[in-house]
Amino acid sequence: MSIIKDIETDIKNVIEKLGYQVETFTLKISDRPDLGDYQINDCMTLAKIYHKNPREIADTIKKELDKDTRLTNINIAGPGFINITLSDEFLIDSMNKIFDNIDNNIDKVESKKIILDYGGANAAKALHVGHMRSANIGEAIKRLASLLGNDVLGDVHLGDLGRQAGMVISELKREQPQLSWFDSNYQGEYPSLNITNEDLGRLYPKASLAAKDDEKRMEEVRQITAAIDKGDKALTDLWTKIVNISSQGIKKTYNRLNCSFELWEGEMDACKYKDNVLDIFKDYLYESQGALVIDVQEETDKKEMSPLIVIKSDGATIYATRDLGTIYSRMERFSPDEIWYFTDERQSLYFEQIFRASYKTGLVPKETILGHYSFGTMNGPDGKPFKTRDGGVMELEKLIELVKKEVIKRIREDIVGDEREKIAEDLTIATLKYADLLPFRGTDYIFDIQKFSELEGKTGPYLLYSTIRMKSLLAKAKDLNQEHFTIVSDSVTRDVILTILKLPVILTKSYEIKSLNEIAEYLYTLTNKYNKFYSENKILIEKDSTIRESWLVLTNIVYRTNLLLLDTLGIKVPEKM
Ligand code: ARG
Repeated sequence: MSIIKDIETDIKNVIEKLGYQVETFTLKISDRPDLGDYQINDCMTLAKIYHKNPREIADTIKKELDKDTRLTNINIAGPGFINITLSDEFLIDSMNKIFDNIDNNIDKVESKKIILDYGGANAAKALHVGHMRSANIGEAIKRLASLLGNDVLGDVHLGDLGRQAGMVISELKREQPQLSWFDSNYQGEYPSLNITNEDLGRLYPKASLAAKDDEKRMEEVRQITAAIDKGDKALTDLWTKIVNISSQGIKKTYNRLNCSFELWEGEMDACKYKDNVLDIFKDYLYESQGALVIDVQEETDKKEMSPLIVIKSDGATIYATRDLGTIYSRMERFSPDEIWYFTDERQSLYFEQIFRASYKTGLVPKETILGHYSFGTMNGPDGKPFKTRDGGVMELEKLIELVKKEVIKRIREDIVGDEREKIAEDLTIATLKYADLLPFRGTDYIFDIQKFSELEGKTGPYLLYSTIRMKSLLAKAKDLNQEHFTIVSDSVTRDVILTILKLPVILTKSYEIKSLNEIAEYLYTLTNKYNKFYSENKILIEKDSTIRESWLVLTNIVYRTNLLLLDTLGIKVPEKM
């Protein structure tokens, strides 16, 4: 348990021992730091429940708390706020505990098995800006969930079935009609397929343009797609090979974003479970305009919720069938406690339908939590979804390169060649990810390349720069003692310590709301406070060796906290920059 949680629990016990029941008790960080570090605001509520004077209640609580040596300067303000200050001895003791093990500053949760469905790339199509948020948020939440003690599995849920299959294959057939897959008399094993991701980058847009106003071509696309859904031997083999090639390319981009998936599964894999789903759903399905649907409306609904189509009128599976199949497979193979989905908010209604259908039919037991955590759009400077200059959808790789061009200018002149390139990559990803995780998950935000690549302000480069500086300070001090924290020397130092102690609250909150904004803000606050401390104190040349050692320990804790949090956000820290 974290140090702050410990105190919180003890204070709660004190209040209950005095005969007052408090449901949930949290120590509030004081908004009057001149009066104390923390405050207890519960006396007013208790006064109403127990028909007493709040100041009287506050008084009895204060009397008990006065005995606790971890607390000092306990005072009552206004109608009955209790202000408390943490004693220097306690702060010193806490710093040493955290220095020993950062885990002493984290509250673990009851461990659950959680599957996180994020990324959601579509095979044979370029990843675009919209896919980046799912990757960044999903990966960071996965790392956070794991940090807090859960057993996590990330699944990309590759979109590898759908119109793009028909598109790409119809175009490939025009470019290379001689391929064995297009020869209906072909016997035996099919060869390997020699196309590259560049080819795929060309094939899909070309076909999509050609089919736009050409009904005949569109029909061909549909037929190929349907044939794959039915398991046509040649086309399924060809498409599977295309998906594999495409997956290599997609993985490369995810790698750049420091995203990795424990499970690389997709909609095609889910098709295998179509019959299992239909069997579980059989008593609930009915025909509507040829399709098989299930009602998901609930009595308490204010708005009408339309039935979920499970099988199309031509008997083919759709996106929903594949999601239900995926759920079936996940339940069978992993029995997760929770499954979390990260997509933009346009799929919110869809997931609500999927979840209701899953619980209603017993595909998923009530105890298993299905959650959809949607996010807003990343917009360009004009406030509209990020576009290329000619108005097209911005491909993710292009955006990464754009940012790189900007941030590379911030790297020291004397760093050159491969090293410069490598650092530029880390800096680019830090810039993108920090900007993407800073706003609350649900809100849209404007991506301003200029602003987010600055070395000052709430930016990835600022955090990396500062963190690297802490590391180099510690390296320069390697021959000095830096093991024991013994003195809270001044108010700036004290402020950094109090900020360190806030970490567990931030982590828990982020985890509860499934948004990284709290962590991103906290990283900035902690770094900023540390930098203030750094500029006010000449750490290395400080004559008092106990003060100097305490400052080095403090630096070490802030440095490790930054590394831990940056890593949770999926951000790598280069050696220098
Ligand atoms: N491929 C989908 C898209 O691009 C996202 C997949 C989300 N996950 C899921 N299980 N449906 O919109």
